[in-house]
Amino acid sequence: MAQGKVDALLGIVFGDEGKGKVVDYFTPRYDVVARFAGGPNAGHTIIFEGKKFVLRSIPSGIFDEGKVNIIGNGCVIAPDLFMNEARELEAAGYSLTERLHISRRAHLILPTHRVLDRAYEAAKGKAKVGTTGKGIGPTYSDKAARTGLRVGDILDGFTQKYERLKARHLQILADLHFTDFDITEEEQRWLEGVDYMRQFRLTDTEIEINRYLAEGKSVLAEGAQGSLLDIDHGTYPFVSSSSTTAGGVCTGLGVAPNKIDKVYGIFKAYSTRVGAGPFPVELFDATGDRIRDIGHEYGAVTGRDRRCGWVDIVALRYAIIINGVTDLVMMKSDVLDTFDRIRVCVAYEKDGVRTEDMPYDTEGWQPVYEDLPGWQTPLTEVRSEADFPPAFSAYIKYLEDVLRTPIAIVSVSPDREATIIR
Ligand code: GDP
Ligand code: IMO
Ligand code: MG
Repeated sequence: MAQGKVDALLGIVFGDEGKGKVVDYFTPRYDVVARFAGGPNAGHTIIFEGKKFVLRSIPSGIFDEGKVNIIGNGCVIAPDLFMNEARELEAAGYSLTERLHISRRAHLILPTHRVLDRAYEAAKGKAKVGTTGKGIGPTYSDKAARTGLRVGDILDGFTQKYERLKARHLQILADLHFTDFDITEEEQRWLEGVDYMRQFRLTDTEIEINRYLAEGKSVLAEGAQGSLLDIDHGTYPFVSSSSTTAGGVCTGLGVAPNKIDKVYGIFKAYSTRVGAGPFPVELFDATGDRIRDIGHEYGAVTGRDRRCGWVDIVALRYAIIINGVTDLVMMKSDVLDTFDRIRVCVAYEKDGVRTEDMPYDTEGWQPVYEDLPGWQTPLTEVRSEADFPPAFSAYIKYLEDVLRTPIAIVSVSPDREATIIR
């Protein structure tokens, strides 16, 4: 990490790549950790010293007491869920108020945004996105429509602004004839959450972050979701509603492109996707079930089964270009330990047409595979590259060659320690 610069760690597939683990591991090297996009649709798992935490809105740098953590302007926050998350950390002995700073420009997720999320999904019938139900789409819609409520509004004329937006939402729900909701209790908790938030530093984090950079401090931008869920570059309309790619770091934190140094692109040694939408490498057979079982591929937010498949070079190459990935981070390599054959999707095919570039519409494409031998050796206890089984080293070398990007870090178990820097 260079002084006065921002490094980014971005999920470059469909999310859940293991961002939380690596951000937590990286934090000692940085002065500041900042989230720039998304909200409680994220579930970032951190495991150390026999303890497990799942963070949703709070950056994964929070376990290092000396570091400032920022929730940037590109994020959306649900005060009630934020309160639950923060209280859990406080109960575990972590002090937050001094070192968790929240952008006044970040948007608030209202209880009625969550109802709208459900209502819009219901109205879509078979074309459901399969959202996390956290109100993400409706909140970013209000942001773009210039009708949203921001964290800064908590400090100024809040009740009136809240009631106005809520009334607007209730009107939309009435127009949709969506009556299956009762927010009375939820709203109480939410308002309690709004009060709870007042004790935090609700500030102009974009100015603060640039001040840190001018002082020569280093910042780690923690991605949420993944590049293929990006509102512009993902598999639209089966995407989330924020800019999850490198450009989102600039807009979501208020830092200029020339302040970004390294871009770490994180992916798993195989592929997963949770929610609906095209996923050419999806396996519907026993192999897919086996990856899911061994990898515990169940959503950290919704508990849904994650769809599983082999690694997808078409998708990875696209994400590497869009993000300017300088270093790759490969997670969950241990999940493939027992497979005798490892498949790699090198292209897509449809109606006799083959492509190695990400197609506009990923629906209906079939994967073209190349096969590599499995290593069939447990990796979980390995801590040094010298101890890699030869077939695992060959898998890494193969991926580095086709992706033309170094794999700088390899992870072999959920634990903080099981992280090998190459
Ligand atoms: P994130 O959203 O990108 O932070 O990822 P999630 O936390 O949603 O999902 C990653 C899951 O994989 C978590 O349950 C982690 O504990 C787990 N995990 C992370 N790295 C490894 C690894 O190298 N091996 C195994 N087996 N699990 C891992
Ligand atoms: P992390 O940060 C995986 C998916 C949802 C759905 C789509 C839109 O833990 O990697 P939304 O609620 O955002 O409107 O849902 O995006 N999705 C994620 N999938 N990991 C995530 O976050 C996700 N956040 C959203 O499943 O398909
Ligand atoms: Mg996750």
